[in-house]
Amino acid sequence: MENAIKNYEDVDSWKTIMFLYNSALKEIGTKLDILNDEFQHVHKYNPIEHIKTRVKTPESIVKKLRKNGYEISIENMVKYVNDIAGVRLICSFTSDIYRLAEMIGNQSDLKVLSIKDYIRNPKASGYKSYHMLVSVPIFLSDSVVDTKVEIQIRTIAMDFWASLEHKIYYKFEGNAPEYISRELRECAEMVSSLDEKMLSLNEAILNCLREQEELRVSTSRNERSHTNRVAISGAAGK
Ligand code: GTP
Ligand code: MG
Repeated sequence: MENAIKNYEDVDSWKTIMFLYNSALKEIGTKLDILNDEFQHVHKYNPIEHIKTRVKTPESIVKKLRKNGYEISIENMVKYVNDIAGVRLICSFTSDIYRLAEMIGNQSDLKVLSIKDYIRNPKASGYKSYHMLVSVPIFLSDSVVDTKVEIQIRTIAMDFWASLEHKIYYKFEGNAPEYISRELRECAEMVSSLDEKMLSLNEAILNCLREQEELRVSTSRNERSHTNRVAISGAAGK
């Protein structure tokens, strides 16, 4: 590459920046696919239901910079807009969220820049999700650029709530009547109890299957030893 990208300060074109963010999404996407496949291979179970990725539109980048009082510049966007590259991981159970977050945190080439646990500390709106801001090294022909990616991890139920809440708030442009905000918070509580129920139900099912398997193994062991005893006593009687 003729104009080597040494770091963000050297990067001056929109296209180059977007190339970096798209590359970062590819890197993270591959890492997550591998983690999911490994998990399937070892535990016969997929913690990730599905993955959504997106690069923020120029309009939303500009809107966010304005909202936060920054001048519109490429430098400011790289410095202050942390969710230009975004990944959303949707899991079945809350326990999968922390398992995945740990696996992501253990990737030695990723730097975890910040964590916001809106599951343990939900937002006033009722929003729940686990956010990780990471940076991933992008290897270019003669340099390496650390590029930020926002990873949001949530259950299917949390995602369902967040998508609808976002749509409703978008329509009201943030000025929803109080009773609507209240009902949304109530829905968020229902979503949380649904998640808890599904998790305990899943644990009960797994325990039940484990007990059935243990019973099957011990029954077949007993049957085998009984057959052996019959065979031995039969042989002795000959
Ligand atoms: P943003 O300026 O919204 O990006 O907030 P932030 O920079 O303070 O980060 P935060 O971690 O609070 O939120 C980042 C992202 O989480 C948002 O862009 C949304 O995708 C999501 N989010 C945060 N709060 C809410 C909420 O109340 N409702 C919904 N639907 N999504 C939310
Ligand atoms: Mg955002």
